[in-house]
Parts: sequence; C-alpha cells; structure tokens
Amino acid sequence: MSLLLDLALPFSRLFEAEDAHRLAIRALSMMTRGATPADDPRLSVSAFALNFKNPIGVAAGFDKNAEVPDAVLALGFGFAEVGTLTPKPQAGNPRPRVFRLLRDEGVVNRLGFNNEGFNSAVARLSRRKPSGILGINVGANKNSEDRIADYVAGVETFSPYASYLTVNISSPNTPGLRDLQTADALNELLKRVLEARERAAQKGSGRKPILLKIAPDVALGDLDDIVNIARKRAIDGMIVSNTTITRPTSLRESNAKEQGGLSGKPLFDLSTRMLAETYLRTERAFPIVGVGGIDSAETAWKKIRAGATLVQLYTGMVYKGFGIAREIKRGLSLFLDRGKHRSIQDVIGLGAVEAAASRQNA
Ligand SMILES: Cc1cc2nc3c(=O)[nH]c(=O)nc-3n(C[C@H](O)[C@H](O)[C@H](O)COP(=O)(O)O)c2cc1C
Repeated sequence: MSLLLDLALPFSRLFEAEDAHRLAIRALSMMTRGATPADDPRLSVSAFALNFKNPIGVAAGFDKNAEVPDAVLALGFGFAEVGTLTPKPQAGNPRPRVFRLLRDEGVVNRLGFNNEGFNSAVARLSRRKPSGILGINVGANKNSEDRIADYVAGVETFSPYASYLTVNISSPNTPGLRDLQTADALNELLKRVLEARERAAQKGSGRKPILLKIAPDVALGDLDDIVNIARKRAIDGMIVSNTTITRPTSLRESNAKEQGGLSGKPLFDLSTRMLAETYLRTERAFPIVGVGGIDSAETAWKKIRAGATLVQLYTGMVYKGFGIAREIKRGLSLFLDRGKHRSIQDVIGLGAVEAAASRQNA
C-alpha cells in the first residue's frame, strides 16, 4: 500500500498544497496495515523512559487532529507526534496559507494553528488502541486571555493518551506566542505545566514526559536562558526546531517571500546549528529531538551527530514520499556498519562542536 501512496505523491503536486495534504491524510486513513518489518536493533533508542524502535518520527503539523497516528507508525516511523492542538477549534489564517518552494525543496506556511480543538482529538484518541509511541503537541488559542492556562489544559487533557507531551511555544503564526520563550514567561509556563503534569499523574494518567519545542530564530543569549530554565525545572527534553521566519539568500522560488515559517531543506543548516548549540548547553541533562530539513539518511545522521537523540521530519515527506522512513533506516544501518558503531546511541553528539561552529549557509 505504501508503494501506491508513493506513486500518488507526485500526482498530488497538481493540487494546491493544503488540498494535497488533505488527500495524503485521507489516503493514510484508508490504508490497510500489514505487519511492519522489525527494525535493525542498533537503531533502537531510549529517551524519557520510552523505548523507540528507531529514532525517526513524524513532526507536528502533519496530523494536527490526531486522525492517522497509527497509519504513520505503520509507515515505519519510530514515533508520531500529533497536533498542535488548541483548547477551542480554530480556523487559522485565510487560504492560501501553505506554499511549496519546489526548487528549494522547502515549504512556507502560515496556517495559524488551524485545528479541531481538544474535544474532537480526545474523541478520536479514546477510540484508539494504544500501540507505538505517540507525542501530543499542545498550544494556545489565538484569542486566549491566559495562554499558559491553555497549555495547562492541554497537559491535563492529553496525559491519559500521550506517550509524551510537547509544549509548542515556537509557531511563528500566532502573534506573540514566541514571547513565551523569554526567561520570565518561560519559567512561569514550565512551572504551571509541570504542576499540571503532577495533577494528571495523581488522577492516574502516569507522569508523562514534557518536551519544549523552540524556534530556530532565538538569539544565543536567549538560548542560554531557555536551557538554564529547562534544566532547573527538570523538563524531559527539547525539540529543536520549529520553522524559521528568516529567509536564506540561497532561496530561488519567488513565493519564499510569503509571510510564514520556512521548513525543509533551506532550514537544515540553521536548525542543525541551533540543535548543536542546545546540545552543548544541556550537557546531556536531557535528550533533544532534532527537526528541520531532514530528507535522507545523510541529513538524519548529521542531526544525530549534532546532538539529536531522536529526529523528526515533515517537509521531507512532502518531497520524498511515504517511503522516507524506510529509506532513512536503511541508510543509518549502513552508516553504523561503515563507522563500526555499535548503535545509534553511540553517535549522538559526536559532531556537536563542529556543527555549532559551522556558519549558517545563508
Ligand atoms: C505545513 C506545516 C504545518 C506545521 N504545523 C506545526 C504545528 O502545528 N505545530 C508544530 O509544533 N510544528 C508545526 N510545523 C513545524 C514542523 O513540526 C517542523 O518543526 C518544521 O517543519 C521543520 O521540520 P521539516 O523541515 O522536516 O518540515 C509545521 C510545519 C509545516 C510545514
């Protein structure tokens, strides 16, 4: 079935980006699932007390409403992250709001947290038989009067269904959201989110790992604060990074000028440098999920070497199709053979100093 989906993908380019995405979700929801072949045991990774069969996940935004997490896992991914979900349903910005930068292999989006809200996701997730690792990414409604309260509600609502929860404060498409990355606001946010996690645990949901997802555009001085606070509050991990509001000068497509967050190949250098900078500041206090521009085994390997324990991708799947997880896994096993590494865990951070020092290819 996945082959059929791969064949369908170039065809989907005929559609406007958002319609093509709808089509992909529809196709996945109809997929019949056979048994997934076992992964190379050297690709297994443990992080936040979870055991991942392989380190490759689907990033938030692909399955915003938790419609197809199990179909995503059946494509060979080691974990799936759904969301961003906000308490109330939200329409997002007017269309068009997703733009493919074909020659750059990038995407610009200004969706603005369009999603069906907590209730509809809970209804879907409560029908699901838990299998595989599921992250649930939560955010705040645009017009919320207390944005932190929205994250608190997200943690309380989704703790029973999630393997881990992501606190997303890095979308560029909700005005003011990224201000939660400043020191005082972040400290208050994490304090309240962790209290919410305790309350959920006391109600019997288990103490679910909390990950913080940041933008690639934070200044290094601010990154110092973010990592210090994350360590002090003892969160379980960070995701680096969301899309960027910057535009590398190398971009060729004119729709790169569209307002929104840039993802895909043109985000790789910046997000990998930020990942390495984060890794060096954490001193292995917690694992990091590396995201941004992964579309091959080479790029996944570079992220892991830069400090990622796990990786995620979204735009790479738009350009390379649904077979991308299998292709990356095959390539990672070959790299392990070639370098005579016992496991992927031995590779994490080996190239972090070099990656942090590399100049942005802008
Ligand atoms: C169309 C689109 C929608 C996205 N929506 C979300 C979202 O709702 N929440 C979130 O945390 N990240 C969202 N992202 C960001 C991705 O999760 C990821 O961090 C970013 O795209 C970089 O990875 P990539 O280059 O592999 O796409 C979105 C990305 C795209 C392209």
